[in-house]
Amino acid sequence: MGPLMLFYHILAAFFALCAVIFLVFAVFFLWAPLSAAPFVPSTGGQTRRMVDLAAIRPGMKVYDLGSGDGRLLWLAAQRGAVCVGYEINLILVWLTRLLFRFSPFRGQVRIRWGSLWDADLSDAQVVFVYLMPYWSGRLRRLLERRLPAGAVVVSNAFAIPGWTCLVEGCGEHGVHPVHCYLWAGRPTSPS
Ligand SMILES: C[S@@+](CC[C@H](N)C(=O)[O-])C[C@H]1O[C@@H](n2cnc3c(N)ncnc32)[C@H](O)[C@@H]1O
Repeated sequence: MGPLMLFYHILAAFFALCAVIFLVFAVFFLWAPLSAAPFVPSTGGQTRRMVDLAAIRPGMKVYDLGSGDGRLLWLAAQRGAVCVGYEINLILVWLTRLLFRFSPFRGQVRIRWGSLWDADLSDAQVVFVYLMPYWSGRLRRLLERRLPAGAVVVSNAFAIPGWTCLVEGCGEHGVHPVHCYLWAGRPTSPS
């Protein structure tokens, strides 16, 4: 094979690799919005507000349904929580696993690759959510079926229909409210 042919082969292989990488990213980042929400991380102010409202104490079991880049779990872990994140995007799963592996919270945070709709929440004390509002009915049914009484749910931006909000905090610059609920074992207001 002449040098020119070799060059063309290398070029073709490079473009094929780029196409595969692009496809992998597209599949993971486009599938998530269809399933529950796109990857739009909570801002710094919202994250702090959510963690404050949850009143996390050391040893508490905290879940983030759609954990993204793990920023909520990071703050919760800083306060001593034992954390589980459910994330469907494998790229974000690898990223956050790597992040926590080289953090002081190694062993304290687990990121599960899977759908939040299959999450086991039987030992949850705090649950964070930031999902698209058109899924709020399904989310509500999931929480009502799987949450133990006494669990606190903190939802960024979107309210859970039919649940009575315990505290509504302001997010960044007074916009994007953060809703905090206490699950009493049954809905506290008629649906
Ligand atoms: C709006 S982002 C919120 C990220 C993070 N919780 C935060 O507040 O910064 C929603 C996340 O949910 C993930 N997601 C979407 N559908 C999902 C599903 N069915 N199961 C698990 N994660 C999902 C997305 O990949 C994305 O990372």
